[in-house]
Amino acid sequence: MTDLTTSYLGLVLDHPIVASSSPLTGDIDHLLDLQANGAAAVVLPSLFEEQVEHEAVALEATYEWASGMNAEAHGGYFPELDDYNTGAERYLDLLDRAKAELNVPVIASLNGTSVGGWTHYAEVLQEHGADALELNVYYVAADVELSGADIERQYLDLVEQVRTRIDLPLAVKVGPFFSSPGNFARQLAAAGADGLVLFNRFYQPDVDLEELTVAPDLVLSAPAEMRLVLRWIAILRGRVDAHLAATTGVHGADDVVKLVLAGADVTMMASALLRDGTSHLRAVRDGVSGWFSERDYESLGQARGSLSQASVADPDAFERANYMKTLLSYRPPV
Ligand SMILES: Cc1cc2nc3c(=O)[nH]c(=O)nc-3n(C[C@H](O)[C@H](O)[C@H](O)COP(=O)(O)O)c2cc1C
Repeated sequence: MTDLTTSYLGLVLDHPIVASSSPLTGDIDHLLDLQANGAAAVVLPSLFEEQVEHEAVALEATYEWASGMNAEAHGGYFPELDDYNTGAERYLDLLDRAKAELNVPVIASLNGTSVGGWTHYAEVLQEHGADALELNVYYVAADVELSGADIERQYLDLVEQVRTRIDLPLAVKVGPFFSSPGNFARQLAAAGADGLVLFNRFYQPDVDLEELTVAPDLVLSAPAEMRLVLRWIAILRGRVDAHLAATTGVHGADDVVKLVLAGADVTMMASALLRDGTSHLRAVRDGVSGWFSERDYESLGQARGSLSQASVADPDAFERANYMKTLLSYRPPV
């Protein structure tokens, strides 16, 4: 049997299939279920910048109001904001329980776009025993005054700031919409990212034609979305000083195998588990094990990156040179 062990962010995992951040990783029962079904690690849902900042602001207002009402309050009658249980309380409870009850690594996740007070939560998550931190930067560049360079600087400042606060391994989850994703990936690594989670999936709004409103509508991913990830993992393998995690469109064992061959250290699953249940993870793991074992691979390391852009005979296959060939490969449905 192939040894599927893989190393990600300094963590040694039994195999490369991780439960991605989703409602399934948001309560202890599902986390235990994911572990029972063989998840090699779990990523908790994100603690959101807004969640922390808004509650902190609301709390501060209460603090000021109450202090004004009661003279005694000025001498420390009310707890300091930093010590108070803000919106993070429930999150920290989940992290504590996950750390106490799971044997697999628990990766905490922070979501934000701006450098701010909320980033100190990286330290708090470290204190609560997270095995690593994933920084989920979900930012739609809708401000037409900001250039690509401005926005990239914002990402890098954020990564640098979080990096200075923790010793934990740090992964950064980003979307694909950069002019030069590969170069930017290198910059993220230089700013302190130990791992890159590619790619964040941006949810697109829809229009409700009855109500004439813009409606949020979360659609789970489709397997074909994995192709974009496959391309960039293949291009970046060996060219960026960071571990590579693949997210978006990882639905079956074949997807995991392809991404490992392209160069992924781990693959992450959310939509397929939400749709098919946590037991699907076990089926995927068994499928991956079967694929490599049947082909006599001794270890995952032997296979990883063997189809990366740097390794294949036809590196153009990952680039535009194949554009015309791809268009010509279309066959109408029969
Ligand atoms: C309902 C739902 C909630 C999610 N919540 C988070 C989150 O809190 N933080 C995060 O980084 N990603 C979150 N994600 C994104 C997933 O972790 C994953 O990156 C994305 O869905 C693409 O992977 P998939 O194709 O396996 O679904 C969420 C996804 C779904 C479907």
